[in-house]
Amino acid sequence: MKPVKLQYWILGWFSMALCCWCISDEFSQGDNQPHTWKKLFLAHHWPVTVCKMSANDCQDPPDYWTIHGLWPDKGEECNRTWHFNVTEIKDLMSDMRHYWPDVLHSSLNRTQFWKHEWDKHGTCATTLQALNSQKKYFGKALELYKHIDLNSCLLKAGIKPSSSYYRMTDIKEALTKFYGVTPKIQCLLPEEGEKAQTIGQIEFCFTKEFQLRNCTTLKGESDPVQHAMKLGTKELSICSDTLPTYYPSEVQDHK
Ligand SMILES: *[C@@H]1O[C@H](CO)[C@@H](O)[C@H](O)[C@H]1NC(C)=O
Ligand SMILES: *[C@@H]1O[C@H](CO)[C@@H](O)[C@H](O)[C@H]1NC(C)=O
Ligand SMILES: *[C@@H]1O[C@H](CO)[C@@H](O)[C@H](O)[C@H]1NC(C)=O
Ligand SMILES: *[C@@H]1O[C@H](CO)[C@@H](O)[C@H](O)[C@H]1NC(C)=O
Repeated sequence: MKPVKLQYWILGWFSMALCCWCISDEFSQGDNQPHTWKKLFLAHHWPVTVCKMSANDCQDPPDYWTIHGLWPDKGEECNRTWHFNVTEIKDLMSDMRHYWPDVLHSSLNRTQFWKHEWDKHGTCATTLQALNSQKKYFGKALELYKHIDLNSCLLKAGIKPSSSYYRMTDIKEALTKFYGVTPKIQCLLPEEGEKAQTIGQIEFCFTKEFQLRNCTTLKGESDPVQHAMKLGTKELSICSDTLPTYYPSEVQDHK
């Protein structure tokens, strides 16, 4: 697949209809079990885009998609007394450093990012026996990440960091064809003077049996938690199908 040139998109800018398959239609009713969740999001982020959101905090971001988190679709900070303990995951350390780095603050205490993810999401995932310890939770996230192997999928589809633009629908189609499910894709909106959105995050959804499923909400399910990631004034949101999409190879980009 070839990146498409910007000029094809000039008309498209004006129809900034945000894709709403995720924000959408089903507001669940009768969901009277506040702590039950139905699916897990495995979020990958593109380190270059994360760095673009907070340029002062980054040096040499990895040039592959890394893990942001494994998130139940419901609940946050479900058990404040279950403290993160890095010793519990010492056997996973080399994979954790490689696949789940703290892209920002790389020079600071690396374990803070993992602690944050555990406190906020991991403690909610533990209702599932397969995830009821820190080792199981982080280990499963790494396992799913390797299983998905997003980096090779994108390469096989010819989607590489580039200074040209992609069509969001092409990226979506390639992923859907490869995985049989539609992931949730988030972008950084164009800044002033920019024409394109920047791809930042790709989330795959899993059932409680760890089967891939669509991220769309089914009847009777709670609305997906909006895991917007905000850094300063910059925020990721569902990518638009109509804006040209930039997949940057470097933090300092063209305008
Ligand atoms: C919260 O975590 C503590 C410490 O691991 C545990 O003893 C307790 O059972 C947990 N509570 C719930 C509701 O899971
Ligand atoms: C952290 O986990 C290790 C290994 O399971 C355990 O020996 C240690 O007591 C724990 N530390 C705390 C503060 O709970
Ligand atoms: C790093 O963070 C962990 C978890 O919050 C903490 O236990 C550890 O003491 C910190 N290490 C340093 C060097 O600050
Ligand atoms: C996911 O959605 C696509 C398109 O909406 C559909 O064709 C496919 O069957 C769905 N897959 C699953 C596993 O539900």
